[in-house]
Formats: sequence, structure tokens, C-alpha cells
Amino acid sequence: SRSIDLAVIPGDGIGQEVVAQGLKVLSAVLPQDVKLETKEYDLGAQRWHRTGDTLPDVELEALKGHDAILLGAIGDPSVPSGVLERGLLLKLRFAFDHFINLRPSKLFPNTATPLAGRPDIDFVVVREGTEGPYTGNGGSLRTGTPAEVATEVSVNTAYGVERVVRDAFERAAARPRKKLTLVHKNNVLVYAGHLWKNTFDRVAAEYPQVSADYLHVDAATIFFVTQPERFDVIVTDNLFGDILTDLAAAVTGGIGLAASGNINPTGAFPSMFEPVHGSAPDIAGQGKADPTATVLSVALLLRHLGHEAEAARVEEAVCADLAERDGAAPRTTDEIGDALAVRVAS
Ligand code: IPM
Ligand code: MN
Repeated sequence: SRSIDLAVIPGDGIGQEVVAQGLKVLSAVLPQDVKLETKEYDLGAQRWHRTGDTLPDVELEALKGHDAILLGAIGDPSVPSGVLERGLLLKLRFAFDHFINLRPSKLFPNTATPLAGRPDIDFVVVREGTEGPYTGNGGSLRTGTPAEVATEVSVNTAYGVERVVRDAFERAAARPRKKLTLVHKNNVLVYAGHLWKNTFDRVAAEYPQVSADYLHVDAATIFFVTQPERFDVIVTDNLFGDILTDLAAAVTGGIGLAASGNINPTGAFPSMFEPVHGSAPDIAGQGKADPTATVLSVALLLRHLGHEAEAARVEEAVCADLAERDGAAPRTTDEIGDALAVRVAS
């Protein structure tokens, strides 16, 4: 479309710094006739300290009206663990039914990785985003006593599993290698594992052109390190996907490069794009954060909104920028953003 109405949630720590660079590159890549409007939302640790709010209904409603959301990072050591994660980040993913958590992994040039020099690694994890152990379905008995019992139930619905599995088959069918791997742990998690495997096999019959296989999650972690080139598209549940995508980032160039999209493919609610990394309070405010993951998340955002040519330009700019990093002096967050903005504009 000829305009983008973007909600921006810089959030905490380096979130502020990297989002500024993402917006810089976004403005630079968009053609003159595409109008970019942004509205910043003050959400995160500071807001919580000031008002006790994580995500009030008024803002949740207002966010619904945007075309997409760009988010930096959420979380700060001064806020009890889980408050912002559940009250803000996961609340958004659940409220906007972001059932596709898309996390691509590519081996870029000159990246610090144990796999440098290996054959091309280019896979994408389709992580379920609204179910599994993330639903908050649990409780504790005799809390704080030696007899405490805690449960954290993984919720898997036929509807929820089928829609993410279908999306993953569509994505695999559209890629040159046409390969899809289901990752689960159905030798132990027999009920959820059965639902996932059964659904996967049933949908696979509709996609004879896609080669479909299955791996237990523990075995998958081995292959991520020893044979990552075997993967094309991976579909997995919310928690396995969380863990696997940090591992994927680590082996393909570091968390500074890993992008993600929390997508609602129906368009009923805005999708949200964010780097996989967190707020990194240890380096916040020092201009040391690599904004590349946010810039690559902007590419996913552009692609989602139908601006394919611009998305590709952003990805090419990142590739070219990384290719020139070898041996070069380290640059600030701002300098990397400037360099990428210049590249996409030319
Ligand atoms: C991620 C993060 C989140 C998750 C946390 C912060 C709730 O680790 O986006 O991967 O577990 O999904
Ligand atoms: Mn994570």
C-alpha cells in the first residue's frame, strides 16, 4: 500500500538505540510516494516504575489500529522477572493472535560463528506463538514449602496446531528446496506430540511436492550445530521454537543479527516485528549494540506489508555491510545505521 502507519515500541535498554536505526533505514528505503507515519508508545520498564502499567487497555486498543508494530526489546533487571514479559510482550502476541513467530537464520559473510566457511545455511523456523507452555496455564500448591508442587501446562489445540503447520507447509512449498521438518519430542510428550505429528502427517498429504520429515528436539539441537544445511523450514511449538532460535542465532552469526516477525497472517490484527535479542542492560546507552537484527526485522515488516523490493534491498544492504566488516574498526550503533541507510537509499 502507499502508506505505512507504524506503531513503535522502543522498550528497554538497547531497544531504544536499535529501533532508532531501524526507523532510519525504513525511511531511507521507502519510495517518495509511500507515506510513513509512526507513533511511539511509551511501554516497558520505565513506564512500569512510573505508573505500574504494563499494557493498559487504552493502548492495546490504539495499537490495533496500526498497520504493523516495530518493537525494540522488553525487560530490565529492576523489574521482577515475568512482569513485563507476561504483561507486555506475551500479552501483545496473544491479544493480536500472532500464531506465526517467524525466525529466519542465514549465514551472512564475516560473522563470528563456529560454522564460518561451512556450506550455505539458510533456514527459517516457524515457531508457534500463541500456545504451548506460554499460555500461563499452571499453578502451584503448598507454595514456598518443602512440599511445593508446580505445574506449567502446555496447551495444544487442533485448531492452533493445524494453522501453524499449514502456514509452514505453504512457506516450504514456496522455497526452492521445499523441505519441512517438524521438531517435537513425541517419544516423551505423547499427547501433544501425537496431535502435532498426526496433524503434520495429514497436512503433508496435501503437499506431495514438499519433503516432510520429523526430528526430536534434542536431536535437532545436534544437527543445528553439526549439519545446519540440512534444514529448510522447521515448524515447532512455542517453547522448542524459543530455544532453537537462540541456538540458530548463535551458530549463524550471533544474536545481533537474528530477526523475527510475530505474524497474524489473517490480517485481523497488526503483526509485530522485533529483534530476537533482549534489552542487553549491560551495554545499554553506550552505542555498542548492533542494530542489524532490528534492521533485518524491518525487512520482514516490509515484506509482510507487500513491499518485497524494499525488503530485498534492506537484506542486500545488510549482506554488503557485513561483507565489509572483516578487520574493520568497530562502529557505533548509529554509524552502522547510517551506513545501512546510505546503502538502501542508493
Ligand atoms: C523471545 C523471548 C521471549 C520468549 C521472552 C522475553 C518472553 O525470549 O522473543 O524469544 O520467550 O518468547
Ligand atoms: Mn527467546
